Amino acid sequence: MTSTQPDVSPAVLREVCGRWATGVAIVTGNGIDGMPLGMAVNSFTSVSLDPPLVLFCSALTSSTWPRIKQGSRFAVNILAESQSDLARSFARSGGDKFAGVALRSAPDGLPALAGAIARLVCRIEDVHPGGDHEVVVGRVLATELFDGDPLLFHRGKTAGMALPVS
Ligand SMILES: Cc1cc2nc3c(=O)[nH]c(=O)nc-3n(C[C@H](O)[C@H](O)[C@H](O)COP(=O)(O)O)c2cc1C
Repeated sequence: MTSTQPDVSPAVLREVCGRWATGVAIVTGNGIDGMPLGMAVNSFTSVSLDPPLVLFCSALTSSTWPRIKQGSRFAVNILAESQSDLARSFARSGGDKFAGVALRSAPDGLPALAGAIARLVCRIEDVHPGGDHEVVVGRVLATELFDGDPLLFHRGKTAGMALPVS
């Protein structure tokens, strides 16, 4: 079925874009008080190989992103297929998202989620307005790669479990 309606509602756009399968990553950073911060994203994508640039989009309603942004660096932790519980925890707003979450030490000092299959350490290169989101472009400073398959997200679900997405 095709639809060419001029006014695309948020509900329609969400459903249409839900046909696009993605992975899930946890963007982490440190608050100015040194506390770990994190949020689940599926908008992560690569932008440029040389220079090495990636992006993700953060909703203007996010309370976590403005605090990560103050630190000028962030890490992207790409989740393994067994980590849908982390996608759920880090999609919550408020509370201690890191309670019970296994971290490993990383030389860059940004929160590193144990079990993630890849990790990118980034410096904020640009932040562009994008409607009700900000488009965050990061310059990749370092990468880590581990074995494992990715957690996939499709039509509002990971591994068959419905997740909240803002
Ligand atoms: C699978 C999944 C993907 C998500 N992707 C994004 C995203 O790309 N950008 C975004 O702003 N929020 C995304 N969210 C919602 C945020 O994780 C959530 O709104 C945020 O963590 C709220 O917490 P905060 O107020 O601490 O920022 C996603 C949630 C889930 C479960």
